[in-house]
Amino acid sequence: MKKVILITGTSTGLGLKASILLAKQGHKVYATMRNLDKKELLLKEAAEANVDIGLLRLDVQDLQSIKEAVATIIEKEGQLDVLINNAGAGFARNTEQATEEELQWVTDVNYHGVVRCVNAVLPQMRKQKSGHIINVTSVGGLVGQPFNELYCAAKFAVEGYTESLALILPKYFGINITAVEPGGISTEFFNSAAKITFGETGMPDDEYAPIFQAYLSSMQSRAAASQESTFQTPEEVAEVLLNVMNDPNPPVRTRTSAWGEEFCTLKTMADPDGTKLRDQVIAQNLD
Ligand SMILES: NC(=O)c1ccc[n+]([C@@H]2O[C@H](COP(=O)([O-])OP(=O)(O)OC[C@H]3O[C@@H](n4cnc5c(N)ncnc54)[C@H](OP(=O)(O)O)[C@@H]3O)[C@@H](O)[C@H]2O)c1
Repeated sequence: MKKVILITGTSTGLGLKASILLAKQGHKVYATMRNLDKKELLLKEAAEANVDIGLLRLDVQDLQSIKEAVATIIEKEGQLDVLINNAGAGFARNTEQATEEELQWVTDVNYHGVVRCVNAVLPQMRKQKSGHIINVTSVGGLVGQPFNELYCAAKFAVEGYTESLALILPKYFGINITAVEPGGISTEFFNSAAKITFGETGMPDDEYAPIFQAYLSSMQSRAAASQESTFQTPEEVAEVLLNVMNDPNPPVRTRTSAWGEEFCTLKTMADPDGTKLRDQVIAQNLD
């Protein structure tokens, strides 16, 4: 069945590839980005794939832009079936190094932006008594990473938000919600994060600097040794989004690769897809 899909952060990476894949499946995709000057890559790939994609401006930090994009879609299509909260940004300054503005920004883009988009689509999905919200989080939303505490905490927040809404939305409103947790994806993500984090000032020369250097070298040698298994292409992760969307009983959470599954095992082994815990909490509190 053809679905109407809103996806955020489609100028590059996973958002762009998912937009193309979902449109190729015959769905009506509204690809959104905060800066429409970046639309050319998406339009080029859409033309090559011979698919028609709706393009709208949406900045997850700008509530008005979210409301306008959602209103436009509902006005044109009369329905909104899937929201994919994909927009996100990495950040690697630690808690002492980040400024107050950086703390606000990393939390706002990665967590508050998700809440804003969910709030914007829920009235229509509740009216329809159907829908699926897919939040792209990360293995870093389950397992904390060195020098990533602010980014990981924002992704943990999305995990807790997803887990909590999974108790109410499917049971009472017929709306599914899933957290998709990629490991590494070969996209602009790390370049953008490096630019955002160290671009203007470089790494601070403080007591953390040698620890950060050791972390970077260890990460680089591990990446060189296991590039293929650690990193997925954005196309591969887009396939996972498609499978989750097509699943009649979608999971509360899912990793996107065998590497990610292994990386999170200690956290997820008792309940890999989150449905046991969901059912237990519902039974204890809502049945
Ligand atoms: N790459 C990885 O290794 C990895 C691993 C785990 C999870 N993830 C998650 O996967 C998702 C997609 O990331 P990616 O790998 O495809 O990275 P990417 O290529 O850097 O894409 C991120 C997208 O988010 C957009 N974005 C940033 N701030 C925004 C805002 N305020 N409003 C709307 N869009 C905004 C970017 O737009 P601009 O071009 O305008 O900046 C870009 O389109 C993110 O949620 C990320 O946290 C990535």
